[in-house]
Amino acid sequence: VLIKEANCLHGGGCRPGEERVVVVKRPAKAVHPNVLVMKNAGLINLFTKIRDETTGAAEFVQYSKRIMRLLAEETAAVLPSRSITVHTPTQVRYKGQLSVIDTNPEKVCLVSIIRAGDSLLESFREIFPGVTVGKMWIQRNESSASKEAVHSCTKLPPGIHEMEAVVLCDPMLATGGSSMTALHTLVKEYGVKPERIVFANVISCPEGLDALAKDFPEVKIVTAWVDDGLNEEKFILPGLGDYGDRFFNTT
Ligand code: PRP
Repeated sequence: VLIKEANCLHGGGCRPGEERVVVVKRPAKAVHPNVLVMKNAGLINLFTKIRDETTGAAEFVQYSKRIMRLLAEETAAVLPSRSITVHTPTQVRYKGQLSVIDTNPEKVCLVSIIRAGDSLLESFREIFPGVTVGKMWIQRNESSASKEAVHSCTKLPPGIHEMEAVVLCDPMLATGGSSMTALHTLVKEYGVKPERIVFANVISCPEGLDALAKDFPEVKIVTAWVDDGLNEEKFILPGLGDYGDRFFNTT
């Protein structure tokens, strides 16, 4: 990798003009028993735009919203659903199904991990405006080697443990520290059953999926893309940099 700017996206410590070899460590086995990786043919175009370091903030928002809308629909499809027969204008009985987020959106709680998770939460709400919302403020400690998650604040609706589904929203899964902190809070402190939780995610990696598989195998994960792995700074590669900074234009 040829470093062009001091504040490059490869994890810090890079100097302009320097060449760096980026080592991607792959865990021996990176599987999650409940992961759904999206297959939409349009994703390659959209990801190419948001990965490109020359894509500016406005375009990053535009293209990532296109991905997040697809992700929201894919997530709706794994939530509890019921069969329903409708009559088409051509007088045909059609046996279909509707997700709980369409029939009873108030029984679905979306929980965003602030800050980047708010971008995904809002894409869901553009499609499903009647959902219930909760938030957790969890940030990676970027000055430590392990990038452990720091949990500052939680605001969840009463009765969240009785909801039909809880959708955890965070566009990035790197080490898994942030999402596991959120899941521990939901399950251990708020009594949400893991099998009722779906983690909606734009970009993941084997290390993060592996970590979630160990502690939360029952939690479903819907991810738009699984990347190669993490670098020594715990950044996803090839990745797209810091999603929150790029989406909220704070780089
Ligand atoms: C990013 C991202 C996830 C987390 C993923 O957030 O949005 O929440 O890191 O990394 P992990 O799996 O190793 O925990 P960050 O803490 O940078 O905050 P931000 O949303 O404000 O950018």
